[in-house]
Amino acid sequence: MDIADFVAGLPKCELHLHLEGTLEPDLKLALAARNGIDIGQTTVEQVRETYRFDSLASFLAVYYPAMDVLVTEQDFYDLAYAYLTRAAAQNVRYAEVFFDPQVHVGRGVPFESVVRGYHRALQDAERGLGVAGALIMCIVRDLPADSAMATLEAALPYKDLILGLGLDSDERGNPPAKFAEVFSRGRAEGLRLTMHCDIDQQNTTEHIRQALEDIGVERLDHGTNMVENPRLVEIVRQRGLGLTCCPISNRFVTGDTKAPVIAALLRDGIRVTVNSDDPAYFGGYVAENLVTLALAADLTQAELVQLERNAFDVAWLPDDRRAGYLAELDAYAAQAGA
Ligand code: ADE
Ligand code: ZN
Repeated sequence: MDIADFVAGLPKCELHLHLEGTLEPDLKLALAARNGIDIGQTTVEQVRETYRFDSLASFLAVYYPAMDVLVTEQDFYDLAYAYLTRAAAQNVRYAEVFFDPQVHVGRGVPFESVVRGYHRALQDAERGLGVAGALIMCIVRDLPADSAMATLEAALPYKDLILGLGLDSDERGNPPAKFAEVFSRGRAEGLRLTMHCDIDQQNTTEHIRQALEDIGVERLDHGTNMVENPRLVEIVRQRGLGLTCCPISNRFVTGDTKAPVIAALLRDGIRVTVNSDDPAYFGGYVAENLVTLALAADLTQAELVQLERNAFDVAWLPDDRRAGYLAELDAYAAQAGA
């Protein structure tokens, strides 16, 4: 079977997807019109022209201003439902998705509009599209630690709608340790913990060490620079932690998919997963990321199945639901002879 066809049918689990990173140009234009906002572009091609960057910092400089078109609860709903529609079409069965409330609250949008819009979309998608999901609230690491704590406190009344706490945005000069208290409080409040350790960042192995040893995260988002210190790889292996890799995003922000290191970690028994990151900006959802990695690293069908098994294994799912998804995956692999 052709690799793209095999990937298309594979039951998938998405663990590294920023909802704000799914803002496709057509939806951006529609939301701008609905809210009476002049974004300076009037066609999809013009918006796409602005989606240009070659580093994490230059990406974020485009990404945050684009969010201005998100104003009402319905806007957040529409953004998430549009993503979930695409995900369902790629046979994503379950998705744990990031959102960045500080950026919206900082523009005067009530926290409640963000979380209720996203949550309602997840509920409707589970019923109407057959894709289930959960929210991971991210702390924007280039904002001060007291803003992060205030955001966590603002989220507590909606704790039942939020599964996890993450850390994203510009890593330079913003180590995990800056947010030790916030993550400790998040854990005490029952949130699951993950953090971005972006690719090829300054002090990357120290940041990964802090995330693993000082914070005690349950997953690492990106995190493949841990190969620079074998002790870190051993910690990840012993704890069975997941790594949420995003090859197409890597190519945009570093010029390299990092396929060899991702594949080497997979083949070394680390629970590597493949994900989309900011697909509207990087031009590939999870299926395209899987195909990109498969072609670059010559993955077998069995290895593609293993990537999804890893994702369902490290997802923050109740055991009975996890078992259901894994059974679907096994059935697919068996019928394809993978
Ligand atoms: N926010 C959205 N995408 C991100 C990424 N790839 N790294 C850090 N922060 C992000
Ligand atoms: Zn990310």
